[in-house]
Amino acid sequence: MGVRVLERLNRLYAIGGGPGANRLGGTREEDEAHELVAGWMRQAGLEVEVDGAGNLVGRLHGRRPELPEVWTGSHLDSVPNGGRFDGALGVVGGLEAVESLGQRERTMVVVAFRDEEGCTGPGCRGSRSLCSGGLEPVPAAFVELHVEQGPQLAEAGAPLGVVTGIAATARGTVVFEGHEGHAGTTPMSLRDDALVTAAEFVLRLRNAAAGVDGAVATVGRLAVEPGASNVIPSRVTVSVDVRAPDDERLEQVAAVVPAELARGRAVAMSTTPTTVLLEQLASLGLPTVELPSGAGHDAGVLAAAGVPAAMLFVRSLNGGISHSPDELSADEDIELAVEVLKGALERLASAVDD
Ligand code: GLV
Ligand code: MN
Ligand code: MN
Repeated sequence: MGVRVLERLNRLYAIGGGPGANRLGGTREEDEAHELVAGWMRQAGLEVEVDGAGNLVGRLHGRRPELPEVWTGSHLDSVPNGGRFDGALGVVGGLEAVESLGQRERTMVVVAFRDEEGCTGPGCRGSRSLCSGGLEPVPAAFVELHVEQGPQLAEAGAPLGVVTGIAATARGTVVFEGHEGHAGTTPMSLRDDALVTAAEFVLRLRNAAAGVDGAVATVGRLAVEPGASNVIPSRVTVSVDVRAPDDERLEQVAAVVPAELARGRAVAMSTTPTTVLLEQLASLGLPTVELPSGAGHDAGVLAAAGVPAAMLFVRSLNGGISHSPDELSADEDIELAVEVLKGALERLASAVDD
C-alpha cells in the first residue's frame, strides 16, 4: 500500500486543527472530510454519489453490474478529540483495497457513512438511514475494516482479528428535576438539588453495570441548569450509554435507567464474509483470532438489515485506548490489514454463482 493510506489518515486527522480528530457528525469538519475523500474516490476512477442522508458512496463498476455489489467502508466523523484511525481507517483502507484491485466481476462500493459516533444522539445515523427502508438490492457483502479499540489482539500477539458480533447498546438521556434556590441561604435540609439526585443515579448505573458480566455503562454528558455557581441546580440532563454482550444482560443494566432508551440489539456477523476473512488470515500464516466488539459499528446496522456483514479488526496499541488522540496502531499492521481486506474483497467480488 506504500505510505498513501498513512498520509491520507494524517490529512483527515489534520481537519479541524486538533489536537486529536475533531470531525463531529453534522459539522463542517465532517463535510470537509467527505469532500476530501470524494476527491480521492474520483481520482481512483470511482463514480461518486451522495445519498439523501449525506453518505458518500463510491462505485467501481464491475464487469457484471447485474450481480449484487460488494461493499466496504466505515465512517469519517469522530468523537471530540478523537483518534487517528477510528472510522477513517475503514474508508481510506477500503478505497486503497478497491483501487488496487481494479475492475472485478461485481461492482465494488466504498462507503463513508455519516455520523456514526452519534455524540449527541443514538449513533450510526447514516447507515441507519440507508437501511431504514430496506436496502435494495441487498449487497452480496459488507466488509468493514476498523481498529479494535481494545487490548485483546495485543494480548493475543495477533496483528489482526475477525469480529464475531457487536454488543447490544442502549442510549438516551435522563432528566432530573429539582428546585432552584439561593446557594447561600437555603439550608441543606430544605434543598431539592437536581444534581445531587443525578449524581446518585450515576453511581447506581455504574454499580449496575459492574454487577453484570461483560456490561459497561457511561454517563459522558451532563447539562446543569440554570448553571450558575450560586444557584442550586433545578434541572440536570445526563446522557446514558449502556453496552452488553447480549440483549438480556443489557436489560439488566438498563432497568435502573428511569427513561426511554434507544436500543440496538446485539448482532452476529455473517458466516460467508467472516469465513473469507479468516481464510485470508490463514493463507498469510497469521493467527485466526475471533473476538466480539464492544464498540458499535455501521457493520452492525447493515447486518441487522440483512446484509451479509463482516469486520476485520487491526490491533490497537497503547493498551487499546480509543476515542482519544492516544489511539495507535502500527504501520505494518495497517498494511497487513489492507492486504487482507483486498484479498477478501477480491474473492467476494469475483463470485458469480448467484
Ligand atoms: C462508536 O464508536 C461507539 O460509540 O461504539
Ligand atoms: Mn468507529
Ligand atoms: Mn468511535
